[in-house]
Amino acid sequence: MKIPLLDIKAQIKPLRKEIDIAIANVIDKHHFILGEEARKLEEQIAKYCNIKYAVGVSSGTDAIVLSLKALGIGSGDGVICPSLTYYATAGAIARTGARPVFADIDPKTYNISVNSINKILTTYDLRLTTPIKAIIPVHLYGQCADMDPIMKIAKRHNLKVIEDAAQAFGAVYKGKKAGTIGDCGAVSFYPGKNLGAFGDAGCVLTNNKNLARRLRLLRNQGASPENKYKHLCIGHNARLNTIQAAILGVKLKYIERWNRKRAQNADYYNRKLKDTGLITPYVPGYNTHIYHQYVLMVKGNSAEGRSDSGGKEKIRKQLIKKGIDSRTYYSIPLHLQPCFKYLGYKKGDFPESEKFAKETFAIPVYPELSKKQMDYVVDAIEESLL
Ligand SMILES: Cc1ncc(COP(=O)(O)O)c(C=O)c1O
Repeated sequence: MKIPLLDIKAQIKPLRKEIDIAIANVIDKHHFILGEEARKLEEQIAKYCNIKYAVGVSSGTDAIVLSLKALGIGSGDGVICPSLTYYATAGAIARTGARPVFADIDPKTYNISVNSINKILTTYDLRLTTPIKAIIPVHLYGQCADMDPIMKIAKRHNLKVIEDAAQAFGAVYKGKKAGTIGDCGAVSFYPGKNLGAFGDAGCVLTNNKNLARRLRLLRNQGASPENKYKHLCIGHNARLNTIQAAILGVKLKYIERWNRKRAQNADYYNRKLKDTGLITPYVPGYNTHIYHQYVLMVKGNSAEGRSDSGGKEKIRKQLIKKGIDSRTYYSIPLHLQPCFKYLGYKKGDFPESEKFAKETFAIPVYPELSKKQMDYVVDAIEESLL
């Protein structure tokens, strides 16, 4: 048996006719950038997320870059984000000219640690040259960072909050959808995401009318909506592609069902793996997790002073042998990435992120997985532990 981390073919198969029709409609109208489908998708997403504005853009990365720029953040500013996330969170900060300021993660939820943010804000020594202007909490793997205390800290220190909801479309925090709590939220529709396009796409969620207007200008070369050759600001070419919007419009109808199925699969794994000694995902009562990834932690390696990831590799070897895909998201924390060397961080600065990078791995949790496939995965893990 072969089990990939995500089976896009199985997801598309039952929707194929609907998607073909949606694409054909766009081709027949010869309108390939933004347009009617993008406008409709924005409305549907805003309704689904219970927010006033959704602004369709070209990727999740651009959603973060444009959010920062629309909030007036750039060169000479510091922006806090977790040291354990996908590169794009910090890459987007750096691309605006701002400085990524890393925080460690919470050892239980793996999201940004509120204590670490507080520590940075009391000990940060670059406040004169690069004052901190914003926080980007990342809703890693499909559950939200603890937003209430983060919003409180932001208010106290006058910081903007951009939620990186790239991995958490449809997740809920205390009744609110991911990406709708801060000043704005960035979503990715990268093909591998729980709501994936057939190429790059993304959007920004916000309740702020002015911010939405600035985002719309920035995504489209700064062009005035009334006169496309009058440029009101220095913008980007970061528009949502119409064919992607049409495809996402079809898929959006299924997102609740898919997210629920992911959570059911995660529950099944939790039950089956509870006696293996592996640490299954921890979900605080305030969160509804949508399991973009189902991540397991091997107990104890680096916590006991060992620097290897032997336990994890033993399991992953067995998974490979049985044809099961698995992956470590992310094996190098951002503060140790070559591209961020200029920031001056060193090994040991964020122990939880470093431990996490060594001791965790994701297994397939996609909605179309059958019980038989999940049992096969569980058996392979158990065999590796014998
Ligand atoms: C946490 C996080 N932030 C940002 C991004 C960037 O999204 P995109 O690939 O759509 O640019 C991704 C996805 O890859 C992500 O996982």
